[in-house]
Amino acid sequence: MTLAELKQHFITELETIYDKDESEQIFLIYLEDKFGLQYTPHNKVEKLDVIFSDLDKLKSGIPIQHITEKAFFYDDFFFVNQHTLIPRPETEELIEIIKNDYVKNPPSSIIDLGTGSGCIPISLKKIFPNANVSALDVSEKALEVAAINAKNLNTDILLIHQNLLEDFNLDRKFEVIISNPPYIRNLEKEEMHKNVLDFEPHLALFVEDDNALIFYERVIAFAENHLTENGVIYCEINQYLGEETKTLFLTKYKNVQLIKDISGNDRMIKATNN
Ligand SMILES: C[S@@+](CC[C@H](N)C(=O)[O-])C[C@H]1O[C@@H](n2cnc3c(N)ncnc32)[C@H](O)[C@@H]1O
Repeated sequence: MTLAELKQHFITELETIYDKDESEQIFLIYLEDKFGLQYTPHNKVEKLDVIFSDLDKLKSGIPIQHITEKAFFYDDFFFVNQHTLIPRPETEELIEIIKNDYVKNPPSSIIDLGTGSGCIPISLKKIFPNANVSALDVSEKALEVAAINAKNLNTDILLIHQNLLEDFNLDRKFEVIISNPPYIRNLEKEEMHKNVLDFEPHLALFVEDDNALIFYERVIAFAENHLTENGVIYCEINQYLGEETKTLFLTKYKNVQLIKDISGNDRMIKATNN
């Protein structure tokens, strides 16, 4: 079988769950991330038994990143599994904003709340190698993944096992507090793809419809004892709750910016008292 024939086979087989462009994209990611191959239509493929078994998994809705066990984020590949959210491109925009804000005067301390794969603190540690970077999550399994990524990418970050919904004090302050917490309401499940709903951890995704901003309340409560005087909070937010989230931050912070992502959706909040 040639790669061109295999590509067509992928598109036909995946038709029931992905559209043609998505299937083609998945095929190219699969070739590159699993076998390190570029698409050369006339080349013949080997290992068809492995490929067909992976294709069956894809057909059942398992995300391509769980099959290749890697996801690209910002500048690096991160190991991912069923215990961590697959890093999203929107979150890369948050990294870019922080990088630009601190290009002349790097922060000395950063903490990421709800770190999952560790993609945020590890990317920031690579940008600001002298910063003390910490990362917190309630999921021990997610922290294990973050530890693997920190080791693979040669970054020294402190991992903290802690439930953000409980009161706690780390007895330290941070110049940058960043969080991409769970923010999808149950009522938004209908518009979500099966591969997210069935295979990504609900702990990382969902909040109660009637308490959708709970994690932002907790970030604000954490910041009360843990943000330096001129520190800044950066959060990824639910695009449908931009104004509500901004209003919440304005109860504690003087300057609150609602920032749109590249698709024009309300996606980030930046809050500071200066
Ligand atoms: C939306 S994911 C973000 C993961 C990663 N930061 C990223 O951007 O890809 C939210 C993360 O918050 C963690 N989390 C959920 N509930 C939490 C809690 N009560 N305390 C601390 N972390 C929590 C989840 O385990 C998950 O890793």
